[in-house]
Amino acid sequence: MDGFFADKVVLVTGASRGIGRSIALAFAREGARLVLAARAVDRLAEVEKEVRDLGADALSVPTDVTSCDAVAALVDAATARFGRIDVLVNNAGIGKVGAVDSPAFEDDVLQTQRASLFGMVHVTQRVLPILRRQGSGTIVNMSSVMGRKAFARFGAYAIVMHAVSAFSAFSDSSVRRWPAAGSGSRSSIRRSPPPTCCGTRTSPRCPRRSGT
Ligand SMILES: NC(=O)c1ccc[n+]([C@@H]2O[C@H](COP(=O)([O-])OP(=O)(O)OC[C@H]3O[C@@H](n4cnc5c(N)ncnc54)[C@H](OP(=O)(O)O)[C@@H]3O)[C@@H](O)[C@H]2O)c1
Repeated sequence: MDGFFADKVVLVTGASRGIGRSIALAFAREGARLVLAARAVDRLAEVEKEVRDLGADALSVPTDVTSCDAVAALVDAATARFGRIDVLVNNAGIGKVGAVDSPAFEDDVLQTQRASLFGMVHVTQRVLPILRRQGSGTIVNMSSVMGRKAFARFGAYAIVMHAVSAFSAFSDSSVRRWPAAGSGSRSSIRRSPPPTCCGTRTSPRCPRRSGT
């Protein structure tokens, strides 16, 4: 296919609906090959069909990004099928609304953190070694205006989005220290406001496995 992303391999998490679906279709229109991840099997299959109807290749892998094993299977499936990953869009996430004195507040923070922050950390940890081997690649992390500010009743979401922004900023500076993997190679970071990109550290929940 022709297009700005012709033959690039783009992995989108949270691709079953909303912004993730739109991102997947936009990349498909630009000729990319898509790897689609989310939990809802049927909705993911529908998006895969929409991508194919645009003439692009697609692989959907039902995945819960809070599970390290599921994320490992996702990335393994992507590389088995396409051999590389050029762009990772860490889009999967949830948003909880509630006041700080609500009994559910602490739980809301923890659940949002699991899905929206640690999900992103898990996928990044699995994909980064691939980008490093390739000597090129881009990771886009979905943050929010709530990653810079906080509004009443959006506390849990704002706390986690601030963490997402911090993760992105620290990871960006880590990746910029990579030595070039070879002549003409690129370890580039693309920032798209407000989201930014990638990371290299291990998470306490999901220690990096050796050899990955
Ligand atoms: N909407 C906004 O105004 C806005 C603004 C700024 C930033 N954002 C961020 O943009 C992203 C997408 O927002 P949206 O409005 O499109 O949300 P959405 O319509 O609720 O879609 C969220 C997506 O994430 C997936 N997801 C949720 N938990 C998951 C998990 N544990 N594992 C895998 N996939 C999971 C969902 O699919 P399944 O349920 O099938 O798993 C769905 O595809 C979110 O990260 C959000 O924080 C949104």
